[in-house]
Amino acid sequence: MMMTPRVRKFALLIHIVSTLGWIGAIACFLVLSIVGLNSENEQLVSASYLSMELTTLFVIVPLSILSLLSGLIQSLGTKWGLFRHYWVLIKLLLTLVAAIVLYLQLEPISYIADVAAETTLSSADLRGIRQSLVVHAVGGLLVLLVVTTLSVYKPRGMTQYGWRKQNNSKNG
Ligand code: HEM
Repeated sequence: MMMTPRVRKFALLIHIVSTLGWIGAIACFLVLSIVGLNSENEQLVSASYLSMELTTLFVIVPLSILSLLSGLIQSLGTKWGLFRHYWVLIKLLLTLVAAIVLYLQLEPISYIADVAAETTLSSADLRGIRQSLVVHAVGGLLVLLVVTTLSVYKPRGMTQYGWRKQNNSKNG
């Protein structure tokens, strides 16, 4: 089911805004996670973890879902298809991995925010989880930057399935 050019442009707009918004929101999360880990100011530490939970729940998670859905629409509604070109397939896999890892982080993020709301976190408290939030944010950013690069350069390379589909449509 191919999209008309106008619908395709509009869907692409949603796709680009949501995915790049997702990246920007992770950049904010990363800054807050570093401040939360290293600041000596207890109020700033608490504020950071509380803001990280809000940013995650109300910006990062919704944008990740919108990004995946709009990516699926861009693939299935255009000649690109979902399994025909390696760049699309790799985008799908990397985005899925990033989203799943993100959803697994929701629990630790909420846990730290709850603790930060109730007590003051000293720099030694829950250090493992707090460090892991920084690492996950860096990892997420890197993965999504790779995905963005793939999107813009669209390196050649078709899957077996892509070749078969192309030949079938040529022959009849
Ligand atoms: C964080 C994840 C993603 C980012 C940063 C991203 C970024 C982008 C960008 C910037 C473009 C515009 C490229 C251009 O027009 O030259 C694009 C197009 C596209 N994306 Fe994504 N994308 C993501 C996830 C996905 C996923 C999960 C899929 C598919 C399952 C997908 C499929 C596509 C397709 C097929 C196009 C081409 C659309 C067209 O030619 O109309 N994207 N993406």
